[in-house]
Amino acid sequence: MKDYDKNWAQVDIDRIPDIRVKPPGPKSMQIQKRASRYMQGYSSQVRLFPVAFESGKGVTLTDVDGNTYIDLSSGIYITNWGHCHPKITEAVVEYTRKLQNCHDFNTEIKTRLLEALVEIAPGDLNNVQLWCEGSKCVEAGMNVARAATGKYEFISFYNDMHGKTLGGQSLTTMTRMSGPRATGCFRVPYGNCYRCSFQLTYPDCNLHCVDFIREAVTELATNEVAAIVAEPVQGWGGSVVPPDGWLSRLRKLCDELGILFFVDEVLTCMGRTGKAFCVNHENVVPDIMTLGKGFGNGYPVTATLYSDRIKDSVEGVSSASSYGGNPVACASALACIEVMQEDGMLDHAAQLGEFMLRRLRKFEEDYTIVGNVRGKGALLGIELVKDRTTKEPFLEACRMVYRKAFEKGVSWIPAKHNLRLSPPLIMEQEVAAKALDIIEEAIAETERNLGY
Ligand SMILES: Cc1ncc(COP(=O)(O)O)c(C=O)c1O
Repeated sequence: MKDYDKNWAQVDIDRIPDIRVKPPGPKSMQIQKRASRYMQGYSSQVRLFPVAFESGKGVTLTDVDGNTYIDLSSGIYITNWGHCHPKITEAVVEYTRKLQNCHDFNTEIKTRLLEALVEIAPGDLNNVQLWCEGSKCVEAGMNVARAATGKYEFISFYNDMHGKTLGGQSLTTMTRMSGPRATGCFRVPYGNCYRCSFQLTYPDCNLHCVDFIREAVTELATNEVAAIVAEPVQGWGGSVVPPDGWLSRLRKLCDELGILFFVDEVLTCMGRTGKAFCVNHENVVPDIMTLGKGFGNGYPVTATLYSDRIKDSVEGVSSASSYGGNPVACASALACIEVMQEDGMLDHAAQLGEFMLRRLRKFEEDYTIVGNVRGKGALLGIELVKDRTTKEPFLEACRMVYRKAFEKGVSWIPAKHNLRLSPPLIMEQEVAAKALDIIEEAIAETERNLGY
């Protein structure tokens, strides 16, 4: 692949954000009116701010009314290397012209992707299935776990998000479901120290939340647990970062109980937390790992990886699908790996996250409604509360802060009473600082409006 201009995403800091018409502007509202006649299931991100986007470049998004925003959403944790990255775009365009689909026949580009992926994957995760949605690769991971163990029960965590197919939904905390969960799916408290279900304090708790799972395995399940499924940082749950050691303790517990450890890295992979995979922070090697979102930087491509140790028992499970591993998807994912491996990319992401978290910690000191802030790499969150002692969630304030910052030119993500920040990992700190100034203004105004 050709080289590209490394300054492609540079912005003029004095000219962003650029809000020309109060958003959502008239053109956005027209589009919203037309589209929402036929489509109802929008995310809260859109429901609360129905702007229509026209283009994206690097760390900015431009709407149909000509407003340009600093992007702290990356779509939804997806465009890790910036909107329309030239190298990834070129790879997609090249294969769109050359070969778009040939079922699961081998291609040179798919083979190169498999080789590159296994090279960077932790431990013995040398076996790959390719899919085109996060929900699908999680569903496939559940199939792998069932095939490998002959068991069908799964344990996941409160406030987890693993997708919208039946398996994924059954592992997820859904506010609304169109029917019952799949049989054998149970959830236990996550390693959420701000809201510890056991009212304990880390590190004195000695990670009781992990030990509790032993009890859950006997009390909830029926000796048929195939895997514990965990997000290494909860995204949808509000960017909840579990305490150090939580992931490795889970790994140990799984080994002790003879259960597979399935880590869902759909949201955390490809540098989002400052390392290629979040499990790398604790050198944990899961038995099954799923990748999505940043894996294709916008092109729909996802993967299920599994360990050599279970390879033989999974042999008969088909991983062929209509779109999984199509040449265009493989070209995009391979280009993403190559971009991530460029000099300093992961360090830049880690430093960006640390810089932003330092600033968020200041919000926690200065604003009463900011109950807790957290982050791992460039995956960050702000939790708003009515009262710091009772920690009562402050949904109304969250909506106000979200809308106010968006109006001033920051595109980002709400989740119930949490605000989530996931900038493209290539963002310069001065751009992030400008976005955080806007967010601070929005928090200050909200506090004043609500009489705090
Ligand atoms: C951890 C995790 N797993 C799975 C999914 C489902 O991915 P998709 O929306 O691509 O189906 C999501 C979506 O947000 C997620 O955050």
